[in-house]
Amino acid sequence: MNLEKGFLEKKIDPSLDLFKEILHLKKTKNAIILAHYYQNADIQDIADYIGDSLGLAQQAEKTKADIILFAGVHFMAETAKILNPKTKVLIPDLKAGCSLADSCPPNEFAAFKASHPNHVVLTYINCTADIKVLSDVIVTSTNAVQIVESFPKDQKIIFAPDKNLGAYINKITGRNMVLWNGSCMVHEIFSLEKLIKLKAQYPKALILAHPECEAPILEYADFIGSTTAILNYSKTSDSKEFNVLTESGIIHQKQKASPNKTFIPAPPNNSCACNDCPYMKLNTLEKIYIALKYEQPELLMSDELIEKARKPIVKMLELSAKFGL
Ligand code: 13P
Ligand code: SF4
Repeated sequence: MNLEKGFLEKKIDPSLDLFKEILHLKKTKNAIILAHYYQNADIQDIADYIGDSLGLAQQAEKTKADIILFAGVHFMAETAKILNPKTKVLIPDLKAGCSLADSCPPNEFAAFKASHPNHVVLTYINCTADIKVLSDVIVTSTNAVQIVESFPKDQKIIFAPDKNLGAYINKITGRNMVLWNGSCMVHEIFSLEKLIKLKAQYPKALILAHPECEAPILEYADFIGSTTAILNYSKTSDSKEFNVLTESGIIHQKQKASPNKTFIPAPPNNSCACNDCPYMKLNTLEKIYIALKYEQPELLMSDELIEKARKPIVKMLELSAKFGL
């Protein structure tokens, strides 16, 4: 199958009702679509579940479907496979990677870990399975603070791979975790200068930011939280206008939940008007249709890797359940 060049996508009959076809394939194959909030609106609208990294992992673990079509990025599909190894996991485009996961190569991280003995390794879920193998507990932006605080104050901790999230957690918990120097290209590109101008243009708009953003942006924000947290905040807030400092896909759910409120995507420090993740946006309805129809590309992992990477993720799910998350 020549998925690389979009060969099959081009061959799809343009008169085909992709929504109808995908719904039919889902039903006949007992498949579910799990989609991250950063997916295009049409993918969110056809998904069985839309969520952040924690919610998606929880859904992947408990589903009884025969197939999980993962509309997100590679590390998320990998996590789904690790948590539910008997289920076939399809990913619409295998090239949907993640700059943050890429910023932490396993060999270098193993050496970093070895140079910090007696440290617990807490790793953000945005990393490869090989990095998860080297970790004690996985965290997401929803549960990171609580998981860090579940360790004694004097416990030495390595936090990887996101230095911005790590620095934010250090700040609010008073910890001094050793940080891996990784970051997300989408959240690091927001411009403080443009944000200040945007604030002047929309003085009443509250600034909602994801903790993967850099410290000066976070200092300027009115609310900092995971994608789910900022979605919930905008639903319950009395404010009517919001500047959104995370990937712009989330605005679809915000707008659906609060049709009378205004959401303004914050501009990055380039010529673009909003900030899309190029990896998340590789997924399309056409690719989802093809993946479900041919049951390819399938995410495959060795049993050994699944077994080793599973422990720190299960630990995270257990702690999340304990915290009611
Ligand atoms: P959450 O969905 O966990 O907030 O993470 C954001 C992100 O960057 C996912 O790639
Ligand atoms: Fe990775 Fe950033 Fe894209 Fe999330 S938004 S998938 S962290 S590059």
